Amino acid sequence: MASKSSLLLAFTLLTCFTLTLQDSYSTQPYTNTPKKAMNTIDSCWRRKANWAANRRALADCAVGYGKDAIGGKFGAYYVVTNPSDDPINPKPGTLRYGIIQANPLWITFAKNMVITLKNELIMNSYKTIDGRGAKVEIAYGPCITIQGVSHVIIHGISIHDCKPGKSGLVISTPLHVGHRLGCDGDGISIFASSNVWIDHCSLSRSSDGLIDVIHASTAVTISNNHFSQHDKVMLLGHDDKFSADKIMKVTIIYNHFGPGLVQRMPRVRLGYAHVANNMYEAWQLYAIGGSSNPTIYSQGNYFNAPNYLEHKQNWKWRSSMDRFMNGAYFVQSGYGSCSPNYSKSQSFTVVDGSMVPAITSDAGPLFCNVNKPC
Ligand SMILES: *[C@@H]1O[C@H](CO)[C@@H](O)[C@H](O)[C@H]1NC(C)=O
Repeated sequence: MASKSSLLLAFTLLTCFTLTLQDSYSTQPYTNTPKKAMNTIDSCWRRKANWAANRRALADCAVGYGKDAIGGKFGAYYVVTNPSDDPINPKPGTLRYGIIQANPLWITFAKNMVITLKNELIMNSYKTIDGRGAKVEIAYGPCITIQGVSHVIIHGISIHDCKPGKSGLVISTPLHVGHRLGCDGDGISIFASSNVWIDHCSLSRSSDGLIDVIHASTAVTISNNHFSQHDKVMLLGHDDKFSADKIMKVTIIYNHFGPGLVQRMPRVRLGYAHVANNMYEAWQLYAIGGSSNPTIYSQGNYFNAPNYLEHKQNWKWRSSMDRFMNGAYFVQSGYGSCSPNYSKSQSFTVVDGSMVPAITSDAGPLFCNVNKPC
């Protein structure tokens, strides 16, 4: 087994660690038995039997750069009762009717539902989509666009088989129906937006990326999600020359990168990504990569696969406390500090990679019962 000090010595040289696969871990994303080992975000709310009476308390549980995302914390509740969709003139009771509203809303679901959107769902600011207590899928149509807005929380839904949007009219606020050119078929596209937190969702099999963070978006936390069955998983920065992406700061923690993934977990351009305590079950091409001098701080992740991370000069890539299994390795480069410099409220303790299978074993949507800890 390679010691931590030998990992830290591996600066600009390609270094390969061959370790024996010894830990077994669950690949099952759906369990809801409260565990002894719970990560910082989960332990903030999951042990409380009254979570459903106080759903908005979730908004205080994020850590990392998306910590300040309040979503609909100071708004009314809105309950989705109708899974149908009309992209121009949505009916009250549908998801689209709630997410376009100008006022803050905390959006929940009256029952299990599969929502197949007719065009991309363009979210307005100060919204929380809270899938706890129901099994909610957004699938088989275009999916979610977070564009030019702030303070969005999406928690506990499954987003899969997303298709490209069509060119045509889509409502984005009560006063605005815009002409859209069609979207790429991302699961969640975060475009020119800030203060966004995506937690406990599952994302798989879509036409484009599962989550894209682009066009000078920043203050984003992507946590506790379960990713599977997809090629280009997560793109942070869309273009090597789009220098406005230098402001981008994204925290990626406690996610489970599951079976059938190929690359981009994430792929980073220009900005900064703190990638900590994630479970990498497997990947086919590479797990973490980038271009245009991004700074990537990989800390306390659990990498279970043999593969190669592209190496370029001038990048700052650091690995610390990562656990490399089965021949996985990380190539560090660059000089200077990679610290995320979190504020006191954003900061959290990164645990050793060996604890990651336990604290990510409930990644993806949870099945929570009302009046019981989740
Ligand atoms: C944190 O501060 C150090 C020292 O000033 C700096 O080198 C580094 O780039 C900063 N990190 C981020 C994410 O801004």
